[in-house]
Amino acid sequence: MTHLVTLPWIGTFEAWRSAARVLAQSAVPGAQIEWRLEGESAGLFAQTGPLPEGNAGDLPVKVPKDFLTLCRTVISHSHQERFALAYDALCRVQDRPRLLADRTDVTVGRLHEMAKNVRRDMHKMKAFVRFQEVGAPVAGRRQFAAWFEPTHHIVEPITGFFARRFADMDWVIATPRMTVAFRDGVVSYDTSLRTKPDFEDPTEELWRTYFANIFNPARLKVKAMSSEMPKKYWKNLPEAALIPDLIAGAEARVREMAVKGPSIPPSRAAAITKRLQVAKAREMPEGGLDGLAASLERWALCPIGTCATQAVPGEGPTDADVMFVGEQPGDVEDLKGRVFCGPAGQMLDRAFGEAGLAREAYYLTNAVKHFKFQPRGRRRIHQSPARAEIEACKWWLEQELALIRPKLIVAIGATALEALTGIRAGVRNRRGQIEAGLGGVPVYSTVHPSYLLRLPEGRDQEAGYAGFVADLRRVPEVLASVA
Ligand code: URA
Repeated sequence: MTHLVTLPWIGTFEAWRSAARVLAQSAVPGAQIEWRLEGESAGLFAQTGPLPEGNAGDLPVKVPKDFLTLCRTVISHSHQERFALAYDALCRVQDRPRLLADRTDVTVGRLHEMAKNVRRDMHKMKAFVRFQEVGAPVAGRRQFAAWFEPTHHIVEPITGFFARRFADMDWVIATPRMTVAFRDGVVSYDTSLRTKPDFEDPTEELWRTYFANIFNPARLKVKAMSSEMPKKYWKNLPEAALIPDLIAGAEARVREMAVKGPSIPPSRAAAITKRLQVAKAREMPEGGLDGLAASLERWALCPIGTCATQAVPGEGPTDADVMFVGEQPGDVEDLKGRVFCGPAGQMLDRAFGEAGLAREAYYLTNAVKHFKFQPRGRRRIHQSPARAEIEACKWWLEQELALIRPKLIVAIGATALEALTGIRAGVRNRRGQIEAGLGGVPVYSTVHPSYLLRLPEGRDQEAGYAGFVADLRRVPEVLASVA
């Protein structure tokens, strides 16, 4: 008789492990077991029937820890044979605890190969899921959806990664086998939802901008690139449409670069450009704020400027009484070219609303005009600006102050407070006070929303946020006291 074991789509590994234990305990040979997932059709000769009796509390089946780790990964493989191969190894590892180290064993070799495929698929999913914003935020949480086509059954094991990485938004990842949703911190799976969501995506343009900017024609290695970004993923990657043209144009771009001559390494370039441009940069450009913003484009005084996508100018009414100064553009601001439009900006907007302030009434800018980051894989990790970078940007802040002539400046976070007062002492013990700032303009300070976003979720973050809203609520009163 063949035992038919039907495993659920969610909790597959745990279900396989309990069934395999019971079967191995009863010494049922692998050839007499047929494994399948719910909904998959059973073989012609498989008979349903109860599994052999087993005593779950007193199991004689023992396995080394790395065996279970390997099996957990292998069970996510899409090959029908994965369950049987893992079962075969489970039975044999009882007498040979070091079985997994024997790469000449055919089963072991296949298990390791399968685990490698699954890990690679997970790596690709982490890199290539492209969330698209769908609709307005719900209860303050932005809504995102993505479509991805993994090769293996990796949705469940990879969910933890996305839940940690994108904890502050609600999201859905739909795949051809199931959909996982993360709403308000709660994960749910739906194996009946297997269709590609139909969405128009404004963020696709951002991915294209980002990709076109990081593409270096001189470093092009088509083979390595195709292995890192295999073609099967292209159809769901907005930026992939650019690849053929970028590759086709790469040679010409490299020739152009060669004609222009060698470029100077960024640190030296910054110092040299500074010497060359310093006199010019000290003159206020024509055209008010627009002229100032346009001149940021060709500005290379700041050492970070060489890495960022673009300089991000301030925005708001030219006659604003209050100027809010943040630290520097973040990842999203760098791509969009607008201040405070990423996660910190979302929090600032929410806090403005709760404090009764209208963002449009104020001028918002940053102490540093470029995004400083460190690339880590495909992510760009924010770095705090160094003193030299704050200094390099100060001239621009001074020009903005001269044009707007605010009565009050609100420093958002320690970097802004340092840029405005010249005192590097953090913001914790100074928030809520009024200090003398650049050009003698009074500076009132509060914490930065990015700091709040980094606090542990729950009470700490809520208390921090409430304090931030309270600081903002005081702005009109502080303005009245200094005006
Ligand atoms: N953080 C800032 O300080 N400024 C921005 O524009 C965005 C994030």
